[in-house]
Formats: sequence, C-alpha cells, structure tokens
Amino acid sequence: MEVIICKTAEEASRLAADMIAGLVKKNPKCVLGLATGSTPVKMYAELAKDVKAKKISFKNVKSWNLDEYYGLAPTHDQSYRYFMNENFFDLIDIDKKNTHVLNGLAKDWKKEVKAYEAAIAKAGGIDLQVLGIGSDGHIAFNEPGSALTSRTRLVSLTPQTIKDNARFFKKAADVPKYALSMGVGTICEAKTVVLLAFGKNKADAVKGAVEGGISQYCTASALQMHQDAWFFCDEEAASKLKLKKYYAWRGLEELARR
Ligand code: F6R
Repeated sequence: MEVIICKTAEEASRLAADMIAGLVKKNPKCVLGLATGSTPVKMYAELAKDVKAKKISFKNVKSWNLDEYYGLAPTHDQSYRYFMNENFFDLIDIDKKNTHVLNGLAKDWKKEVKAYEAAIAKAGGIDLQVLGIGSDGHIAFNEPGSALTSRTRLVSLTPQTIKDNARFFKKAADVPKYALSMGVGTICEAKTVVLLAFGKNKADAVKGAVEGGISQYCTASALQMHQDAWFFCDEEAASKLKLKKYYAWRGLEELARR
C-alpha cells in the first residue's frame, strides 16, 4: 500500500487521473472499476479534460461500477447509474454499452450479482479499481462487519452511511436501506487499486485503513494485503497518520518509480 499525500484534493485528483490516463494510453482496451460519491468527481473532470484535449480516449475501455442502491431505477437522479452518466460517461467518449452498473431494480438480485461477477471475469478482470472511503472505513458498500472475502451481493447500509448520504436526498427517510455492492474480495482482485480520500471527515478512516489492524470493521484495511494499492489523500485526510511525514517524503518517489 502506498500513500500519496498532496496539499489539496485538486492536486491528488490530478495525480490519480494521471495514473488512470497512463493505463488507458498503455492499454486502450483496459477494464476499469469505478466509484461514485463526491470524492472522485474532480478526478473524473480531469480525465474528461484529457479526453477533450485528445490526450486519451475511452472508446474501447470497459467499466464496472462498485455499487448501486437497491430499489432505485437507473433514471432516478440519486441512482449511481445516473451519477456516472452525469459526472463521467457523458463527459468522455466511452461507449455506454461498455459501461456496467448493477441494476438496482433487479427482482432476482442473486442472479444479477452472479451475472455481474461473471461478466467481469469474462472481460479478464478489473485492471484498475477506483475507490472512495466511507467515514467508517467502508469501500463500496462493504460496511463494518463485511467479510474481507465477500463477493458482490445485497447489503444493508449502516445508519451512519444513511446519515452521510442523506445530503443527496430530500430527507433521510428517502435514502435506500439496501444496496447491491461488489464485495471486498471482489475489489481486492483488481490488479491496481486507486483510493481517494479528502477532508478531515476521512482522517479516522484513512488512519484505520493504513495503520490499523486488518479487520472487517474497517473494510478498506483489506487493501494492506494488496500488492498495488495507492491511497491519494489531501493533507486533512492524512492528518492522523503516524507516519505521514515518511509517506509524504517517499510517496511521490514511489509513484515516479512505478
Ligand atoms: C461509492 C462507494 C462508496 C463511497 C464512500 C465515500 O460508489 O462505493 O464507498 O466511495 O461512501 O463517499 P464520498 O466520496 O461521497 O465521501
């Protein structure tokens, strides 16, 4: 696990975008795992700038998203499909047929998650997975208590996540209580993982993920076992790390060596 500490979220987003742009240039048919939430929005905007400047093209890239609220239609303005179209897919030249988001209206969710995992495997697995982190250390919707070997499945959201996400809905009661989510085990199979964390609200989660014990109570901590996991943090999100000076000193060098 490598921790890159930048002064600002803008700087960190650009560095993370560079990592993705580098992969897309090297392998225009790569498979990306994508995240929603407020954190990756700046990075998606940076990638969209690269597409506009014709530095990269997503024409042959395939993507699978981490999760989707269970019960929301893809056309619902809080669904993750809607979010991805608005914040990324409509800004780049990707073929929408190559973008995959779990169907929040699937009647048979077991069939849906099985087909999702099978499709990822058929595409050759995820080359690079983008992640945010919840204030309780969750990745995707793998809340505390999720098995570190878990697969894509139906999950119940915690009251904290419902509270955190209530800002996007008219009222807390409108936030769905369930989601379909890739598992921690599914995520850890990605060849490279890029996790973004910004703001002081994420400082405890980052501390737990990077310097805490590996535990299902902070599912991001499973990334300590990953061979190519990169945390891109701003100074606030990294503020509680014991070794922050060391990470800040070596992180950019590690990135350049990669
Ligand atoms: C989103 C996702 C979530 C978010 C996390 C942080 O697809 O899987 O795990 O990454 O809840 O959300 P933000 O970025 O809004 O703080």
